[in-house]
Order: sequence, then C-alpha cells, then structure tokens
Amino acid sequence: MKEYKIGVIPGDGTGLEVVDESVKVLKAAAAKYGFGLALEYYDFGGERYLKTGVVLEDADIEKVRGKDAILLGAIGHPEVKPGILEKGILLNLRFTLDQYINLRPVKLYEGVDTPLKDKGPNDIDFVVIRENTEGLYTGAGGFLKKGTPDEVAIQESINTRKGVERCLRFAFEYTRKRNMRKKLTLCGKTNVLTYAFNLWERAFYEIAAEYPDIQTDYAHVDATCMWMVKNPEFFDVIVTDNIFGDIITDLGAVIQGGMGIAAGGNINPEGVSMYEPIGGSAPKYTGKNVINPLAAIAAGQMMLEQLGETAAAAAIEKAIMKAIKNNIKSMSAGKMGYGTREVGDLIVSYL
Ligand code: IPM
Ligand code: MN
Repeated sequence: MKEYKIGVIPGDGTGLEVVDESVKVLKAAAAKYGFGLALEYYDFGGERYLKTGVVLEDADIEKVRGKDAILLGAIGHPEVKPGILEKGILLNLRFTLDQYINLRPVKLYEGVDTPLKDKGPNDIDFVVIRENTEGLYTGAGGFLKKGTPDEVAIQESINTRKGVERCLRFAFEYTRKRNMRKKLTLCGKTNVLTYAFNLWERAFYEIAAEYPDIQTDYAHVDATCMWMVKNPEFFDVIVTDNIFGDIITDLGAVIQGGMGIAAGGNINPEGVSMYEPIGGSAPKYTGKNVINPLAAIAAGQMMLEQLGETAAAAAIEKAIMKAIKNNIKSMSAGKMGYGTREVGDLIVSYL
C-alpha cells in the first residue's frame, strides 16, 4: 500500500478546526481508496510564537521539506502584530520551499449563492495561477529617513525572467491539461508598470508560440476585476503576478460563494507543495464549531490530486457538491445549518 507523508500545520484560530475536518475526510478517503497517510503535526503559529518567541526556524523548514505534501489551516493571531506570522511562517514557507505557483480555482457549485446577478455554475469556472515567490512580496525595498518629514519608503517589485517564465510555462501546461476552453489570460498592467509587465508580456507571447492550441488573451488587472464580475464566463485560466493574484483571488473567492469554499495550492512542481483554505484564521469564530471547513476539505482534495490519488480526489469533490446541493444552506460561518464537525461528518458519509 502506498503511504504518503503529510505535514500538517493547523496554524492559528479556526485553522485548527478546519484542518481537523479536512484530515477526517482524507482519512476516510484513504481507507476507501486503499492508500495510507503518515501525518506529522507541527505547531507553527501564533501560540508557539507567544510562548517561545520562535516564529519559524530553519530546522522547522527542514522537517516539512521531506514530506510528500503539506496541509495548512490558517496563519494569523489577534495578539501578534500583523506581518510577523504571515511573513515569518506563510511567506517564509512559500519562498523557502520555492512554491512558485499559487493555484486558485474559482468554481461555483450548484446550489451555492453568488453575489453576481444572473450568473450560475456554467459562468463561474476558471482558475487563477498566481506567481508566488516574486513581485512585491520579496521584501525588497526599505526606508530612508524614517519617521522624519523627509521619509522615503520604497517597496520594489522583483520580476526575474526565470521566475516569470516558469510561472507562465506552468500556466500554459495547466491550460492544456485542463482542456476546457484552452484560453489563457495574462492579467497585468502593461500601461503603467512598463518594466515588470513588459517582461511578463514578452515572455508570455514568446512561450505562446510553443502552444498553438492555446488561445492567448490579455487584460489589465483593473479590467480583469470588472470582467470577473460582469462576464466571469470569459475566463478559463488567468495567470498573473503575486500581488495582483492575491487581490483578484479574494474577488474570485467571493463570486464562488465566499472564503468558506475557496481553496488553493502553493505548488512547487519539483518539490513539496502546500495546500490551504484561502480564508484567514477568523478569530471571532474560533472554537465555536461554526466555521465552514469545506475550503480546507477542498484543499485536501487538491492535495490528493497532486499526489496522484485522482479517484479519491474526484470522490471528495463529488461529496462536497452533494452536501452543498442537499444539505448545506450557506457557505458563511454560522449559517450553514450544520456545525463545522457535522459538515466534516456529512462529507465522510457521502464518500
Ligand atoms: C493569501 C494571504 C497572504 C498573501 C497573506 C496572509 C500574507 O492573503 O494567501 O492570499 O497575501 O499571500
Ligand atoms: Mn490574500
């Protein structure tokens, strides 16, 4: 029997609760589809930081590096200054493990409410591929004369040919494999960010020549936001840089029904990848058994897909769709008609 080594990082707040349900479903899928899971839990997060002062050590990263995949709950603690844990744990893992793709499907399931008028599951089904290790996220920049009237703050966007190209290549391959409309949209801002997105644009059309079966398309990021609301059916796969990907995937999450259902993967195709629900640690819902675990369960599904357990992954998606159609009233915390644990049980029962 195949056994997968999975690193589990519940993290902070509701991360713990949703990861429990995701693991519950993964275990059920493993039993049914005949594979094993060797789970190793790590306490990276705000509680450990407050107790020990440790954010994340090199030794921590070495522990997760050897895994087949990582499942993450949420990072962010109300008593820790914003940025410390996010940069120190989440971004540190993404960068150090070179997870250069952030893959975020935006798919509206039958029975889920979208705030978009007259749009349904046939209209909202696309994937955002976000570059995940460069751009404005590298921390390049600094202050000059901080705290004085002459203060200067510089935050630089780093775009390397190599980083851009590997992301674009992944996007072209992904669009081909997805085999739906075979359309790849580059989302940028070539009219203003004339260095960064000039590089993106040149690389995009150069690589496109190797993919004659893929239709290429370009949209500025502001227009992308407009189309995502007005005509989401225009999109099949969108590829973009780190910060634009961050922003448009929150919009994506909301049109697919909310953070409660939105999952993503931080992918290193040559290394270890990390799957997560894209919502945060939701302090106000913590410990109340009200948070929606479907995003974390869907993250587990994405993880199984990557591990090659495609039948088990498809079964989890089917179970999610069935539970949404038959049982779960809303994607929002506290309004599901079921508790967090009960949603997990429901998915297991449909499996
Ligand atoms: C996300 C989050 C993170 C990001 C934060 C928590 C650093 O918003 O995963 O989208 O900006 O990437
Ligand atoms: Mn975000």
